[in-house]
Amino acid sequence: MLGVSGSVAAYKAIELCRLLMSEGARVLPVMTEAARRFVGEATFSALASEPVPAGLWTSVDPSPHTRLAREADMVVVAPATARLLGALANGICDDLLTAVLLATRAPVMVCPAMHTEMWENVAVMENAARLRSRGIVVLGPTSGPLAGGDEGLGRLVEPTAVLDAVRGILAGLHGAASDGTVARDGTVARDGTGSDGPATRDLAGVRVLISAGGTREPIDPVRYISNRSSGKQGYALAREATVRGADVVLVTAAEGMEPPVGSEVVAVETSREMERELMARCQDADVVVMAAAVADFRPARIQAQKISKADGVPDMALEATPDILSELVEVRRPGQVIVGFAAETHDVVPRARMKMAAKRVDLMVANDVSVPGAGFGHDTNAVEIIAADGASTSVPMTTKAAVARAVFDSVVDCLAKSSKESAARGKDPAKSSKEEF
Ligand code: C5P
Repeated sequence: MLGVSGSVAAYKAIELCRLLMSEGARVLPVMTEAARRFVGEATFSALASEPVPAGLWTSVDPSPHTRLAREADMVVVAPATARLLGALANGICDDLLTAVLLATRAPVMVCPAMHTEMWENVAVMENAARLRSRGIVVLGPTSGPLAGGDEGLGRLVEPTAVLDAVRGILAGLHGAASDGTVARDGTVARDGTGSDGPATRDLAGVRVLISAGGTREPIDPVRYISNRSSGKQGYALAREATVRGADVVLVTAAEGMEPPVGSEVVAVETSREMERELMARCQDADVVVMAAAVADFRPARIQAQKISKADGVPDMALEATPDILSELVEVRRPGQVIVGFAAETHDVVPRARMKMAAKRVDLMVANDVSVPGAGFGHDTNAVEIIAADGASTSVPMTTKAAVARAVFDSVVDCLAKSSKESAARGKDPAKSSKEEF
C-alpha cells in the first residue's frame, strides 16, 4: 500500500508508484486530503493497481481501512508529513491513511518530507524516534533543495531509494536477498542461502556503528598507501541494519559509493581520522561492526611537498597504525556487541580464530579474499561467522547484502544473549539504550 500525505513532494510519489508497478508489485494507493491538493487523484488511479479510495466515510467499501490493512504486504508512506508522523506516533486515526496504519500488521515504512525547521522540532524528532523504537522504518529525510527555494535537511529520499528499501524489507520477510528482485506475483527471488529470513525490524531502536572502506595513508600531497577494499560490504551492512530498524552511523573511508539512505554518514580518509570518529561515537553504540580495512602501516613522516622523481627512489619509513578494534574492545561498555572482520588470503579460519581470541570480539567474520568473486571490490562474498563460544556459521558465496543479513542475524543472537545475562544480574543495558528517545 502506498500512502501519500500532503507535502509538495507528493509529486515524487507518482514516480514511486510507477517504479513499484514496473517491478511487478500490486500498488494500493491511499491519499490524504492535503495530498489531493498537491497531486491529482486521477494520476494515482490511472497508474496504480486500483483507484484511490474516496475516504474513510465516503468509500463504497464498508470498511476500507481494514481491507487495505489486511491486503497489504507492506505499507509505505511517501511523503510522510509531520502531521502523519505525529498521528502515527500517538495512535491517532482521523482519516483513511492513519486508520490503515493503525490497523495493519504489515511492516510500515515512512519517508518524511518537510522543511528543516519542522523536521528538527523536538516533537517531530521524538515522534520519529518513537516510531523507530516500535519497529517502523523511518527512511530519510535527506538534504537538498526544499520547497520555496530553501535548502537543507528535510527532502524526501529519491523514489529509487524508497524502492531499494521496500525490496530490502520484503526480502527480509521472505528470506530472499536484500537486493532480490520483486517478481510479477509480488514474491521475492530467493538468494540461495537457504535462510528462511529473519523477523524484520529486530534491530528497532538499536544503535549501530559501522566502519567501511580502506583507509588512505598519505605519503606526500599527491600519493598515498591504501588497499583494495571497496566499502561495499560495510555499506551493505549499513543498509541491512537500517532496514531492520537500527539507528546507523557509518564511518567510511570508501570513495565513490552512493551513501546508504537512512544512515548518518561520516567520511574519513586516514586510520587516524577513522580512529578519532569511531572512538568519539562508540559509547553511544549498542553494536560496533568493524568492516573497514584499516591500513596496518602508514608512512612515519608525511612529506609536505611532492617527492620528486628526480631525487631518486625515496627511503620511506613506515610505522604501525593504531589497532582501532582493540581500542574499541578496551573501552567496550556493558552489553555492547563488537564485530571484527578478518580478511585473509591463507589459513583463513585458523587465523580468524586467533584474531578473535587476541581481540576479544563477540563475532569475527572470516573472509577469504583469495577466492574469486569474494571480498574486495566484488558484489559477492563468502564468509565464516565465528562466535566467541567457538561456534561458526558458514555463508557460502552470495551477495554482500545476504552476508550482511547473516552477520546481523548473529548480532541479534549476541544482543539477546547479553541482555539475558544482564537481566540475570538485574540490569538490562540494551533496554536502557532503547528507551532513550
Ligand atoms: O588484525 P587485522 O588487521 O587483520 O584485524 C582485522 C580487524 O581489525 C578488522 O575488523 C579491522 O577493521 C580491524 N582493524 C582495526 N585497526 C587496524 C587494523 C584492523 O581496527 N589498524
